[in-house]
Amino acid sequence: MTTIKTGNGVSAEQAAIEQQLTDRVLASFENTPDPRLKQLMQALARHLHAFIREVRLTEAEWNTAIEFLTAAGHITDEKRQEFILLSDVLGASMMTIAVNNEAVGNATEATVFGPFFTQDAPEIPLGGDIAGDAHGQPCWVEGTVTDTGGTPVPNARIEVWEADEDGFYDVQYGDSRVAGRARLYTDADGNYRFWALTPTPYPIPHDGPVGRMLEAVRRSPVRASHLHFMVTAENLRTLVTHIFVEGDPQLAIGDSVFGVKDSLIKRFEQQAPGTPTPDGRDLGDRSWARTRFDIVLAPENT
Ligand code: BEZ
Ligand code: FE
Repeated sequence: MTTIKTGNGVSAEQAAIEQQLTDRVLASFENTPDPRLKQLMQALARHLHAFIREVRLTEAEWNTAIEFLTAAGHITDEKRQEFILLSDVLGASMMTIAVNNEAVGNATEATVFGPFFTQDAPEIPLGGDIAGDAHGQPCWVEGTVTDTGGTPVPNARIEVWEADEDGFYDVQYGDSRVAGRARLYTDADGNYRFWALTPTPYPIPHDGPVGRMLEAVRRSPVRASHLHFMVTAENLRTLVTHIFVEGDPQLAIGDSVFGVKDSLIKRFEQQAPGTPTPDGRDLGDRSWARTRFDIVLAPENT
């Protein structure tokens, strides 16, 4: 049987030695001129020391942690950010979002940003198609953008991005394709509509240290199917979120980055081939889906 070490059971003398070290480290930050930096550094040291003491960290485990962080640094470049991935799978990204996006009335909930947003997505007209050459089932997405008082928000900027049916974003192909992403603007009544692809599940990049860590703890790298949104409008809080697909089996298994919120799970209604489309688009013998996502933006600075 494996012995689990804990901090309980150390002698009073040993506990005092450990506490003295923590106190010395905390005191070393006392002269930090920036009060926020001082708070951050002291809290970090306090929690880190408490962790090491609680689990009775071995020197071999300390080494493994250093090797892990070193590997995360080596695989990180301008396209691959292993440290954000680590934050994501530890729930630290979602906790930061929770802390910074307090619920305001009926405002739409935020979720994780992810690494696949790009600034340069093409603008499409209302009713346009974000798919480009990306493969997947066509999906009609429509809704309104309002403030928390129900007033429509005209000219809200909506940026949307998603993986193709093979589970890859355009930027993961290593060529210069732009597909599965676009930006568009709400009309005078706050309405929007566009064609996208019905989202499908895909794994976060798991060929690096974070993937090996997930494997060691028997966790799946797969994210629940989703479509990303970033919505920006004057005097309102920018919303970074996704919508998830009701009935997606991955919702029950769990989302690898803890991004799912019940309010963001939407019905994607399947439409048989030949069902007339909302804008008269001829999809031939292809099935399609449709969903509605009404977006409520919180006031700025809330
Ligand atoms: C994504 O949604 O694309 C994503 C989010 C977090 C980590 C990796 C991918
Ligand atoms: Fe994503």
